[in-house]
Amino acid sequence: MKSNIVNQFGGNWTEAKMEIVVKYAKAYLTIMNKQTWVKTLYFDGFAGSGHIEADEEKDAIKGTALRILEIDDPKPFDIYYFVEKNKKNKESLEAVIKENYPSKRAPVIQEDCNIKLMHMAKFLKENKPFRALAFIDPYGMSVNWESIEHLKGLGIDLWILVPTGVGVNRLLKNDKNIPEAWLKKLEMFLGLERNEILKHFYSDKTINTLFGDETSVNKDVEIIQKIGNLYSQRLKTIFEFVSDSFVMRNSTNSIMYHFMMATNNKTALALANDIIKPKYRI
Ligand SMILES: C[S@@+](CC[C@H](N)C(=O)[O-])C[C@H]1O[C@@H](n2cnc3c(N)ncnc32)[C@H](O)[C@@H]1O
Repeated sequence: MKSNIVNQFGGNWTEAKMEIVVKYAKAYLTIMNKQTWVKTLYFDGFAGSGHIEADEEKDAIKGTALRILEIDDPKPFDIYYFVEKNKKNKESLEAVIKENYPSKRAPVIQEDCNIKLMHMAKFLKENKPFRALAFIDPYGMSVNWESIEHLKGLGIDLWILVPTGVGVNRLLKNDKNIPEAWLKKLEMFLGLERNEILKHFYSDKTINTLFGDETSVNKDVEIIQKIGNLYSQRLKTIFEFVSDSFVMRNSTNSIMYHFMMATNNKTALALANDIIKPKYRI
């Protein structure tokens, strides 16, 4: 099973992230298996090509989409829905699915995840027996807050990779002199007005000097952690519960992403925290 298109491997945490989702999906299906009236949907908003390049010398490894499609025990999902914006990746994933999982209802749609999150919300409102497990795995700040807002009150467990270090922090410049386009991006991503965002992350410090008062701008020291906490707080305005984060760091120990799960179900929350716990390092 190999496709010629591969996504880039980010490090050991790429593997850990996939393990978390697969482990969660198996536990999720075990619970759903007992609720015979429930139909299950697996939604992947950034599905990739099916494979991830681990290393130049090694073969590509299976991406999350294929690992999820492999699950048959305790049961498979009733429907899968894969979204991938890039045409080549979409075609590659589609080909692997057709070859290896021909019996599964698993379309791959070439579209922006934001649009399909809205469509999923509508589908779940109109199809009451369905519960969804969603996996949102972008490289950067591609998910608009507005898309998340559509999910309010629905039966979704949402695993989301939040680009705290590689995204938001890079836009929050040390001197607070942030270009207009970046401010707009921050507003769209966090669903907050720029003044609220700036107030959250910066403080003005006034020092009384020999030549009068001098004001300097201070960006928070633990800023990336604070971004993760803010995103979690934002999710709590839409979902009842948000899990702890699995914090992903690069080889120099800088935080790149926070990976968390939002849900309206208390059992789901406990399950997610249990899975993250052994991998959770901060
Ligand atoms: C981190 S990779 C996904 C890896 C995949 N989840 C896996 O485990 O194999 C992100 C993917 O999202 C796609 N993408 C980027 N922006 C997108 C968007 N707005 N909507 C949907 N897909 C997008 C990219 O082409 C890329 O294949």
